[in-house]
Amino acid sequence: WVPVPNVQELVREDPLQVPLRYVREPEDRPKLSDMSHLSSLVPVIDLSLLLLRNKEELNKLDLACQDWGFFQVVNHGIAKQVLRKMKDAAAEFFELPLEEKNKYVMSSSDVQGYGQAYVVSEEQILDWSDALILLVHPSHYRKLKFWPKSPTGFQEIVEEYSNAIHKVATELFQSLSLIMGMDKDALLGLHKQLMQGYRVNYYPPCSKPDQVLGITPHSDASTITILMQDDDVCGLQLVHNNEWVPVNPIPDALVVNIGDIIEIWSNGKYKSIEHRAVANDTKARVSHATFITPNVEAEIEPLNHMIDPKTKQQIYKKVKYGDYLRNSMKKKLQGKAHTEIA
Ligand code: SIN
Ligand code: FE2
Repeated sequence: WVPVPNVQELVREDPLQVPLRYVREPEDRPKLSDMSHLSSLVPVIDLSLLLLRNKEELNKLDLACQDWGFFQVVNHGIAKQVLRKMKDAAAEFFELPLEEKNKYVMSSSDVQGYGQAYVVSEEQILDWSDALILLVHPSHYRKLKFWPKSPTGFQEIVEEYSNAIHKVATELFQSLSLIMGMDKDALLGLHKQLMQGYRVNYYPPCSKPDQVLGITPHSDASTITILMQDDDVCGLQLVHNNEWVPVNPIPDALVVNIGDIIEIWSNGKYKSIEHRAVANDTKARVSHATFITPNVEAEIEPLNHMIDPKTKQQIYKKVKYGDYLRNSMKKKLQGKAHTEIA
């Protein structure tokens, strides 16, 4: 990894400066006026109905995974106060002085810690964001030296929040298994041992939000990603019918997206959609992404019954998850990490 400046600190020094290495090519710049009216079309799924195996809701989930690759989840059962505590603790962490946060700084050989992820060359156009990344499950992968000791209780709340998200993920897997024509426990089984990562993104305000991006367009190398956004600051956008559509926050809802691994398992029926985050000139935005992935040793390939019996076309090759992950980090710089065609 190449070390780059801390964006929050750039803005602290001079709120008006936007160094050239953050400025996007004209065709990659966000149009901030765009498509807000389409946000209301992003599907909303009621998890309590999925748990009752409500046919209509399962059908809605199936369409959401095919047409959007994204949906917002309401009635997910996580107490508001758990979401609140996680947001407050993360906000407090990012407000700490840089020296304090740098106690947890990502090393050049690691993907855990505080800093700027995925910077591999001096020429790369940089994202207008900082991040804290922690591996949470399995717990023996945790590197506690990266887990902030300040604010007090940060580690406990990450644990509590992550356990709550874990429950939502396993409940979603049951419904996803059903709509993929399997027994409800099938998807969980395919993970071997489920891995869970937590990434908090911090997007400082930017005086030229129409020239930068908070996060470069990418798809997630996960099974699913579960995102908690701020209730009042927009930023997430996804590609739908070749347009960037914002996913505006519904208070206390969670945003879920289908990752590359479900795209592979479903042989392309469900899509892992490219998305990005844009900056704004008024308010910092914080988002909390939980990545659910298979174990690095798990072998991933299209499920037999998802392959069309007529054409027998298997769109993706078999790959070990750890190899897929390494590869996709390299390709991330070029947008969607296209899965290898068989
Ligand atoms: C991400 O895709 O990792 C972050 C999206 C967001 O901040 O909304
Ligand atoms: Fe993402």
